[in-house]
Formats: sequence, C-alpha cells, structure tokens
Amino acid sequence: MSDPIDRLLDAAESGKSIIKNRDILHFTYVPKIILHRDSEQEQVTQSLIPILKQSRPSNLLVYGKPGTGKTLVVKKVISKIQERVEQSKFPIKLVYSNSKEETTLYGLLVSLGRQLGLDEKELPTTGLATSEVFKRLLHKIDEGKLNAIFVIDEIDYLAQLVAKTGKDILYQLTRANERLKQGSLTLVGISNDLTFKERLDPRVISSLGEEEVVFTNYNVEQIKKILEERINEAFVENSVEESALNLCAALAGGEHGDARRAIDLLRVAGEIAERQQSDKVTTKNVEQARQKIEENKEETSLEAFPLHEKLIILAIMKANGSSTGEIYSSYKNLCKVVGRDELTNRRITQMLSEIELSGIITGRLIHQGIHGRTKKYKLEISSEMVKKAFKDELTLKDIL
Ligand SMILES: Nc1ncnc2c1ncn2[C@@H]1O[C@H](COP(=O)(O)OP(=O)(O)OP(=O)(O)O)[C@@H](O)[C@H]1O
Ligand SMILES: [Mg+2]
Repeated sequence: MSDPIDRLLDAAESGKSIIKNRDILHFTYVPKIILHRDSEQEQVTQSLIPILKQSRPSNLLVYGKPGTGKTLVVKKVISKIQERVEQSKFPIKLVYSNSKEETTLYGLLVSLGRQLGLDEKELPTTGLATSEVFKRLLHKIDEGKLNAIFVIDEIDYLAQLVAKTGKDILYQLTRANERLKQGSLTLVGISNDLTFKERLDPRVISSLGEEEVVFTNYNVEQIKKILEERINEAFVENSVEESALNLCAALAGGEHGDARRAIDLLRVAGEIAERQQSDKVTTKNVEQARQKIEENKEETSLEAFPLHEKLIILAIMKANGSSTGEIYSSYKNLCKVVGRDELTNRRITQMLSEIELSGIITGRLIHQGIHGRTKKYKLEISSEMVKKAFKDELTLKDIL
C-alpha cells in the first residue's frame, strides 16, 4: 500500500486542484466589481464629496445586516478618494479602523492617530489618559489644518469597549468640530447591529446620523451572481456544479442575504472537494461545509466561555434531570471534584440565561400547578462537541 503522506503529496503535485486562486475566496479580498451596490456606492461617495472641495462632509452612519457589503463599499469609496487626494496638495486624511479588531478604546484612538501621522513620541502606545489622546488627535488636525475623515467600522463594539464612557467618546467624536479652530473632522460609523442606533444617546444619534445610508439585504438571486463572479476568478472552469452554487446561494440568501456566509460556504466546500480529490464541488460538499462552519462556530463560542459557565454546561450534560435545581446540584458536585468554590444558585440561574443567548442550550418554563414554575434546560449540541471544545482546559480534565 502506498504511503498516506506520499499519496497526498503526489495528488497535490499532479496538480489536481480545483481552486486556482485561494486568496480570492478570503474575506479580505477586494473584488474588482461590486455587484448590486451602485446606489449605495453613489450615496456614500456623494456624502463624502465635500472633502474634495476642502469643506467638511456631514457625519455619516452606514448600517445594514452582516455581509451586505458595507465595509467593502466604504473602503472602496475611501480608497478612490484617497487616490485623487494624493495627486492634489490638499491636506486631506482618510483613516479607517475597526473597533472589533482593537481590544481597547486607547488602541483604537492610537490606530487613528498613527494614520494621521502621529508618531510614538507624539502619541505613546500606552500611558496617557484617553481624553489626552483625543486632545492630541484634535491638535494634529488643528495644527495641520487637516480635513479628516475617521471611518470607524463595527462602531457598536466601540460602545462595548468602554461600557460606560463609550457613549461619551462617541459624543465627543461626533462633536469634535466644535473644538477645532481649523481643519475639520467627519465621522463615518459602520454598524451591522440595527438596534445600535436605538441604544445611543439621542445627542449622538442626531450628530452621527446627519446622513445615513442603509444597506438592504441581498436576495438569493443577487447572492448567486456574487458567487458566480467569485467562482469565475477563483475556481478552475466547470468545477462547481450548478446545483452546488444554487445551494450556497439558497443557504446564505435564505436568512438575510449574507454574502460573507455565501463565500465562506463556497470556499470550505471547495476545500472539502479538493481534499477528497474530486474534480467538482457538489451539493454534498456544500452540505458538509455548512455543517463544518456551524460546528466551528459552536466550538469557538464554547471555548470562549469562562470556567464557571463551562462547569454549568458540563453540569447540564451530567445532571439527573434538567430543572434549574437539578443542574445546580450537579454543578456543585463538579465544583467539588475540580476544587473550586461554587457560585450562588442565583448567579448560576443568571448564567444559564446568558448561556441560553448563545443558542448552546435552550430553556423552557414549566408550570407545576401549586408548586409554581421552574425552568428546564437542555443542551442543543452533542456531548462530543463539548468534550472536544473543553479538552484544553486543564481544570476540567478529570470530569470530561
Ligand atoms: N456586492 C458585492 N459584490 C461582491 N462581493 C461582495 C459584495 N457584497 C459583499 N461582498 C463580499 O462579501 C463579504 C462580506 O462583505 P462586507 O465585509 O463588506 O460585509 P459587511 O456589510 O461589512 O458585513 P459586517 O457587518 O459583518 O461587517 C466580503 O468578502 C465581500 O467582498
Ligand atoms: Mg464589515
């Protein structure tokens, strides 16, 4: 029998590969054409045009569901304006940062500052008060008479980064102009959390939402076109079956038309097909891809839970029954085994509701006549999955 390693390497070398350019399926790839988004590209451009004439564009809020092309469109508009600005001598600065990629508010402000040209000496990476960092950003704009646009992507995370002061910093950012003697600052916020706006301070809404562009959901047909475009670029000709393409589009378009999900499905399905050394991506591969992505998502969220949440999930797995009381006593036992102090029943009840939000467990209220009511929980994922996700947590190794 042939060596398993050689067999794989032979196959790879003999060039039986159906993906000809993997990068095109990566989420950072910027496609040459943006389909179905002419009007959104126009609206965003229109809103920022004053910058070319050296005046201050209104603040802009861009929102729409995940994977509807917001980041793609805004980045493209910004880079097109940038190209033109570079040829002119105007002091215009367009900077982009993503709140989700920064772990602190400080980090986010520093990233904006660096792009404005502030170096480590003018703006150290740690050690200042946030208000001081902010002051230095404004000073830079003022001093250079800059017309600046700050794009803050996933801006809802900014509010979370600083649960209490988040609103305040947004307020300061949107009103920064009032503190500038020269130059200007425009804020472009992008959010996929449609309730984000409702949760904001009304003063922030009125200034951040001076202009708004809403990205609507793609329908299945539109997702299909986006996928066809990518397939042409990324795959060897005729290597994706029409039915597989349709299934990707239907799965991603069915919910709210998420182009990212569609492209992910396609990429993973392609990789699965390649691994099976098949020369076509079939609906079966798409189905396998869907399952794999789903499992990865669950595994990642399981891994991210703190220890006591993990103990509760294990308690649900091991409990004799599913009522809150039964889960609590099973949890207390596990705490003893691993040598940790148990949290109160009340805290655990709270945590159960929090874990429920992740979809990993579901709860059901049961009325028991004169005994009042109790909530029963059940695990929505397999115990194998739980064990796999927790295997690296040393504290749990005796109870898995
Ligand atoms: N109209 C389109 N044409 C081609 N590709 C698209 C289009 N819309 C989205 N995509 C692709 O889909 C993926 C998701 O798009 P994008 O990152 O812009 O979504 P988003 O609206 O910013 O989502 P989120 O809110 O989750 O950040 C990217 O890979 C992007 O290239
Ligand atoms: Mg985005």
